[in-house]
Amino acid sequence: MDLIVRNARLRKKEELADIAVKGERIEKVAPGITEKASLEIDAEGMLVTPTFIDPHVHLDKVLISEVVRRNVSGTLMEAIEIIWEKKKSYTDEDVMSRAGKVIEWAVSHGTTILRSHVDIDTVGGLKPLQGVLKVREAYRDLVDIQIVAFPQEGILKDPGTEELMRKAMEMGADVVGGMPYNEYNEEDSRRHIDIAFEIAKAFNADIDMHVDETDDPGARTLQYLATKAIRENYHERVTAGHTCAMASYDDSYAAKVIDMLRLARMNMITNPATNLMLQGRRDKQPVRRGITRVKELNAAGINICYGQDCLKDTFYPTFGQADMLEVGLITAHAAQMSLPEEIETLYDMPTHRAARVLRLKNYGIEPGGFASFNIIDAKTVQEAFRTQPDRRYVIRKGKVIAKTVSKVEIMRGAAVS
Ligand code: FE2
Repeated sequence: MDLIVRNARLRKKEELADIAVKGERIEKVAPGITEKASLEIDAEGMLVTPTFIDPHVHLDKVLISEVVRRNVSGTLMEAIEIIWEKKKSYTDEDVMSRAGKVIEWAVSHGTTILRSHVDIDTVGGLKPLQGVLKVREAYRDLVDIQIVAFPQEGILKDPGTEELMRKAMEMGADVVGGMPYNEYNEEDSRRHIDIAFEIAKAFNADIDMHVDETDDPGARTLQYLATKAIRENYHERVTAGHTCAMASYDDSYAAKVIDMLRLARMNMITNPATNLMLQGRRDKQPVRRGITRVKELNAAGINICYGQDCLKDTFYPTFGQADMLEVGLITAHAAQMSLPEEIETLYDMPTHRAARVLRLKNYGIEPGGFASFNIIDAKTVQEAFRTQPDRRYVIRKGKVIAKTVSKVEIMRGAAVS
C-alpha cells in the first residue's frame, strides 16, 4: 500500500477503521488492516470525512473589495456596478493572484473541489475566464475546478453576451450559467433561460443559474427554470443558486414551486453568508433574511446544499475564508437548523450533496473511490461545526496536500512563566 490512515472515525460507524490507499484510490476500509504502507498516519480516533466541495464560488471576483470603492447601499445592484470599472482592467496575473490565494485558503480548510461562476459579459469580455482557466491549470495538483459561464449582466440586456457565452464554452467552461432576473422584463427573463438551455444542449453541458436573487415576492424565474428542466428532460442537470425570493413568496406559491423543483429533480444552493448581508436592505422592520427555504426544500427531498459564494468582494466585502465548516455554521443559524439530524444534513451538504450537484463519480470513503479525505480534529460533526477545528491532514488523491496543527496553552497563576 502507498498510504494507510489508521484509527479513523467514520461517520455513523461505531468502530474505528483503517483506510488503505494505493495510488489515487482507496483499496480497503476496515478495522485493523494488517498490511503495511510506505506512509502511515494515525488519525487517533479523529473524524475522517471526504474532502469538502464548494459548489458555488466566484473566483474571478474574490478579494477585489481591497481595491474598489465601498458598497454604500449594501445592495446587489450597487455591488455589480462597482465591479464594472475593475472588470475592464483585469489582467490574467491579477485574477490568478487573487483566485490563487483563495484556492490555498480552501485547501488549508480541506476543500479540494470547487465550482466557480465566472463573469461573461461585454464589460470584461473573456478576461475573467482567461484568468480562471489559467489558475485552474496552475493549481491542478491541489484542486479540481468546474467553471460556470455566468452572464452576470443579463443576456438580452447586454447584447453580445450570448456569443461570448458560446465562446466561453469552447474555451473550457464546463457549465452554462444564468442570471435571468437581471433582465428588463419577465419575457426577457424567460428568453434568457431559453438561450441558456440552447447553449447547454449544444455543448451537452449542465446548467447552474443565479435565480431570483431579490427580495421581490413576485419574481417568477425559478418556476420557469423548473418548467424548462422538466420539459427539456434535464432532470438532475439543473442547479439554482441563491433563490432569495423564495423567502418572500406566499406560502401557497412556494409549495407549488417546491413541488415543481422536486419533479425536475433540481439541485439548490443557498449562499447565506452573502445573502444575509445583501437581502432586506430596503426593509425597515422586520428585516427579511432573504435565505431560501432550506428546511422546506430538504423536507421535500430536494438536493439542497450551501456555497461560500463571495469572499471580500463588493457583495460580501469583509469576510470569508473559504472554509465550508464556517459556511455550514452560518447556514445552521440562517436556516435555523439545530437538531442532531439537521446538523448531520448540514455536513452532507459540502460533501455528498455537493458531489451530486457537480455529478462527481468516485466520491466518498469506500473502496474504488478517490483517496481524498480530511482528518479533522473533532469526534463528531456537531463538534466540527462548533469548534471549527484544524483540518490536521488534507489528503487528495492519495497525497497529503496540507497539514495544520494549532496549539493553545492556558496560563494560570505564578507557576506558569
Ligand atoms: Fe453567486
